[in-house]
Amino acid sequence: MTTRPALLLVTHDAAIRDQMRWVFTSDYELFEVSDRAAALSHVRRVMPPVIILDLRLPSTDVSATERLAYLQESLQLNPNAKVIVVLDHPDRATAMAAYESGAYDVLELPVQLDVLKVILQRAMYLYNLERENRAIREQAVATEFEGLVGNSEPMQNLYSMIRRVGPTDVPVLITGESGTGKELVARALHRLSVRKEAPFIAINCGAIPETLLESELFGYEKGSFTGATQQKKGRIESAQGGTLFLDEIGDVPLNLQVKLLRFLQDHEMHRLGGRENIKVDVRVVAATNVDLQAAINGGRFREDLFYRLSVLTIPIPCLRVRGSDIPLLGNMFLMKFASAHKKLLKGFTPQAMESLRTHNWPGNVRELENRVMRAVVMAEGKYISTANLALHDSSSVEPESPTLRVARDLRERELVQWALEKANGNVSKAAVELGISRPTLYQLLARYRLRLLKRTDELENQET
Ligand SMILES: Nc1ncnc2c1ncn2[C@@H]1O[C@H](COP(=O)(O)OP(=O)(O)OP(=O)(O)O)[C@@H](O)[C@H]1O
Ligand SMILES: [Mg+2]
Repeated sequence: MTTRPALLLVTHDAAIRDQMRWVFTSDYELFEVSDRAAALSHVRRVMPPVIILDLRLPSTDVSATERLAYLQESLQLNPNAKVIVVLDHPDRATAMAAYESGAYDVLELPVQLDVLKVILQRAMYLYNLERENRAIREQAVATEFEGLVGNSEPMQNLYSMIRRVGPTDVPVLITGESGTGKELVARALHRLSVRKEAPFIAINCGAIPETLLESELFGYEKGSFTGATQQKKGRIESAQGGTLFLDEIGDVPLNLQVKLLRFLQDHEMHRLGGRENIKVDVRVVAATNVDLQAAINGGRFREDLFYRLSVLTIPIPCLRVRGSDIPLLGNMFLMKFASAHKKLLKGFTPQAMESLRTHNWPGNVRELENRVMRAVVMAEGKYISTANLALHDSSSVEPESPTLRVARDLRERELVQWALEKANGNVSKAAVELGISRPTLYQLLARYRLRLLKRTDELENQET
């Protein structure tokens, strides 16, 4: 059984109540009240997703500001509600003030019921979409593990592996494509180990020129080479007691691989130009995004070092195979960047979410993070749109535009979608944006928005 969403109708006008009761009771659980106190008590008690608020108060000496206060109070009680305000001949200034106070839409009397029906459907759709976005965000927080977000099966397996391996002292090799979170996993292992109070020292072996890598790792004594004006500890020594994270281990040149191997066997090293053997107790965690087996076969990586490093191997799955994590990660990054950029963003439009889900993500989580950061900066409305994400090559429609008519339809559809996304689903605002009347926009919606209506049904069915 589908539960009907609650609709609160606030009006002193009996004629309007009769009219709406007749039309809306089959789709909504209708609550009717005629005064302010009853309205607010219903908002508090029922938390209706949609409210139709007649702001033509019976007495004419009530100022516009006071009328708007009524709207604001309702929204304070239920900030997620979509409030449709009804006014007599609203002037532009009052309508704008109502929008600014948080109204979802402003209607002028007499209300056309078929239009109102569509507006209500869209309001419900948006309400459900926002609720879905909030749920995803709450889920992301709930499933976070040591800074890693994701609850797909591959991630659950990864978490249980980290839980088991973390507290042990064995060397670990983390493998995975670029941007999958290898460094995050290494840090998680460190935090779960007995060494967690000691340092976690990371070195990206691929980012340091070969000539400097040795002195970075092992340190040097004063005068050991031109420019060595004082003694310097290397990263290995700095990690004393803690974890040494050797990132991009596949990029270590062969001569250094020999020295690393010796250190891993003896737990002893000496600085460049030094004679003293220094004992260093560290746990080594290495990471690679290249196939080390192929490097071994090609003679670029020592097999004995590989076995030393990979007592345990933790493979990180790429984002493509972690479909259900994409909304979680997307929303988590959205909130992070929205708050950093002080933007009020509520989520992704369904189209934008769909393009996130279907993208191939060659750059994995890092690519997703960067895309969302870009989109947050570019977003104009309350939702991130497909265009903001810029995931698809827009030139793809151009080459074989069969006729002018088809090309025009395509563009028109895109523009309608863009305007709706920008106006946050508000049809009146979108119509203004497009410079067309609302009825014309409804016609265009009927022609192009089949998909949105279908999604509304899907969302409503989920409530059963
Ligand atoms: N599961 C995850 N949850 C949250 N953030 C993640 C997750 N995976 C990766 N990230 C983020 O994505 C970015 C890339 O992660 P990280 O640097 O750990 O990847 P990497 O595998 O080391 O990549 P590379 O091979 O390119 O160095 C970081 O900003 C990290 O915080
Ligand atoms: Mg890395």
